[in-house]
Amino acid sequence: MEQQNNEDILILAVETSCDETAASVVKNGREVLSNVIYTQIALHTKYGGVVPEIASRKHIEKINQVVESALEEAGVTLRDITAIAVTYGPGLVGALLVGVSEAKAIAFAADIPLVGVHHISGHISANYIEHRELEPPFICLVASGGHSHLVVVKDYGQYEIIGRTRDDAAGEAFDKVARAIGLGYPGGPKIDKLSKEGNPDAVLFPRAKVGENEYDFSFSGLKSAVLNYLNSCQMKGEEICQADVAASFQKAVIDVLVEHSLHAVKEFGYDKFAIAGGVASNSSLRAAFVQECAKRNITFYHPSPVYCTDNAAMIGVAGYYEYIRGVRHGYDLNAVPNLKL
Ligand code: KG4
Ligand code: ZN
Repeated sequence: MEQQNNEDILILAVETSCDETAASVVKNGREVLSNVIYTQIALHTKYGGVVPEIASRKHIEKINQVVESALEEAGVTLRDITAIAVTYGPGLVGALLVGVSEAKAIAFAADIPLVGVHHISGHISANYIEHRELEPPFICLVASGGHSHLVVVKDYGQYEIIGRTRDDAAGEAFDKVARAIGLGYPGGPKIDKLSKEGNPDAVLFPRAKVGENEYDFSFSGLKSAVLNYLNSCQMKGEEICQADVAASFQKAVIDVLVEHSLHAVKEFGYDKFAIAGGVASNSSLRAAFVQECAKRNITFYHPSPVYCTDNAAMIGVAGYYEYIRGVRHGYDLNAVPNLKL
């Protein structure tokens, strides 16, 4: 059994916003006692992407088991838990509802407070797990399957979005391009791996400049450029080198993410920069930020890959800071698929 001090705050966290059924126990906001993730990726692969209905059904099947495992692995029981945190948006509504209902039921049964958490606040908070010294303010790039945001983290749970994507999210672009070159779903990790064998300068894809906000992103033009390149090769009967296309596309995404992010860090006058979200686990992206931040004397933070992609530990961390700020939700908490940060 985990030895608990009476003053310890233990958050049981639940995350079901997309295709991962996850639960975790987090102690005092920074120490992960357990992090259980049941990933549905294999189930959705044959459809080339997440099928919402299948995701919800699988969450229902798995959620109790995942929560039980999280408590067991942490060596605690519900009686030790201070509060329960749950992602209530943004995400797939049917998927979110499973986690929200589970959390409400546990909060009621165990008579503990319920704290709703924003999924992106969770992704950003993943940085606190392995960097105990990290405190706001700092700038964070959130790049996931659904979001590409540049965020000023003013304080715990206090955010200002200074840049966002005008069209596709970075992860979405990875997934679409992977599909086009025949790599399948999920595209990010596959492009990441294959790019190591390719030449990033083989094809010069465009680096999008977008309108008036210099911190905004746009990836749909890049995606179209890749599709056009593939079509023209096909028409000319030229063979495509998958690894070169993957590496060149990846470099174009990374160049834009690095340039916009570090420009924001400089303009806003911060010396700390963090990354979060599924795309943040990309090995070349991390290497590029390590190098560029070092040149500029910026301290760079990034979570381990397991805390970049969807997980409940990050929700437990964000939930802890909401809890100590006094945030409480009632049993009328609902899933909000387009919840604003
Ligand atoms: O944060 P996440 O797990 O879920 C959302 O909240 O969307 O992000 C999933 C996205 C997918 O688009 C996936 O292809 C991308 O993150 N991703 C990656 C890598 N691992 C996951 N993209 C690039 N390189 C990776 N290694
Ligand atoms: Zn996510």
